[in-house]
Amino acid sequence: MAQLSKTSLSYYLSEYLADLQRAGVQDVWRGDDVKSEEPPPTARRQSVQTSPSATEPAPTPATAPQPPRSSSASDGAVRASQGDDRVAQLQTIAAEVAKCELCPELVSNRTQTVFGVGNPYSELVFIGEGPGAEEDLRGEPFVGRSGKLLTDMIEKGMGLSRSDVFICNVVRCRPPGNRNPAESEARACRPFLDATLDVVRPKFVCCLGAVAATNLLGVNESMSRLRGNVYEYKGAQVVCTYHPAYLLRNPAAKKDAWQDLQLLMKLMGLELPSRRR
Ligand code: URA
Repeated sequence: MAQLSKTSLSYYLSEYLADLQRAGVQDVWRGDDVKSEEPPPTARRQSVQTSPSATEPAPTPATAPQPPRSSSASDGAVRASQGDDRVAQLQTIAAEVAKCELCPELVSNRTQTVFGVGNPYSELVFIGEGPGAEEDLRGEPFVGRSGKLLTDMIEKGMGLSRSDVFICNVVRCRPPGNRNPAESEARACRPFLDATLDVVRPKFVCCLGAVAATNLLGVNESMSRLRGNVYEYKGAQVVCTYHPAYLLRNPAAKKDAWQDLQLLMKLMGLELPSRRR
C-alpha cells in the first residue's frame, strides 16, 4: 500500500466521507480539522461520426486519485468493499510515479510529479500533454489557465462536474519551459498512462491536443484530421479535440472543440444543452 502523508490521508478521508453523506449515509462525522520502450498499440478508427507562475508555491500535497463522488460514491464504496478499490490501486501507481527518475531533465526540473485527479470510477478520462508551471507547483493536472478552460468545457459545456471525470497527462513531470514532451519522455511515461487506464477502465477517452492523441493512438496526424473521428483504445471510444492552451491562443477554434465535445456527449448518451431544462 502506498504511503500517504497525513495531509493527503485527511483529504481523502474528508472527501470520501463527504461522498458518503451525499449518497445518503447518515451519522458521518467529518471532524473540524480535515481539509481539505513499448510502442503504443495501433489505434483502430471506428466509424466517422461527424463532421504562472505562482509567487511562493504553497506546500500542496501531490494530488492523487480521489474517491468517487456524486451518484457514484456509494457505488464506489461498494466496489471498494468488493475488492475493486481503484483509489488504492491508483495511489500505488502514483507512488511509483513519484519515485520515477527515468527522464533526467524532467526530474531535475520538477517540483513534484503530477499524477492525475478525479473519479477513478468515471466513464470518462481526459488526457493532456504534460503539467505546466502551475500544475508542477500544485501537483494537480490542469489547474492553470488551460485548466480553467478545461473545467469550463467539462462543466459548462458538457454539464458534468470536473470531479466526476478523471484527468491525467501523457507525461507526469513538467517539461521545462512548457515544451512538448520528447518522444523518449512520452515513451518512458507510457506504462504509467496505460496502468492508469487499466485501473480506471474508461468507456470514453478525450485526447486534448495532438500530443495526447498521437501518443495514445500511435498515429502521426494533425488534430484537424484526427478530430471528428472515433477511435478505440483498450476498449474505450476515443475522441480528440484541441488542447485548451491552443483554444486560448486561437479562440476561433472553440466552435470546433464544441463540436468535438458534442460528439463525445452523443457517444456517452448525454443530453445536449439545447435539450437541457
Ligand atoms: N497542459 C496539459 O497538457 N496538462 C496540464 O496538466 C496542464 C496544462
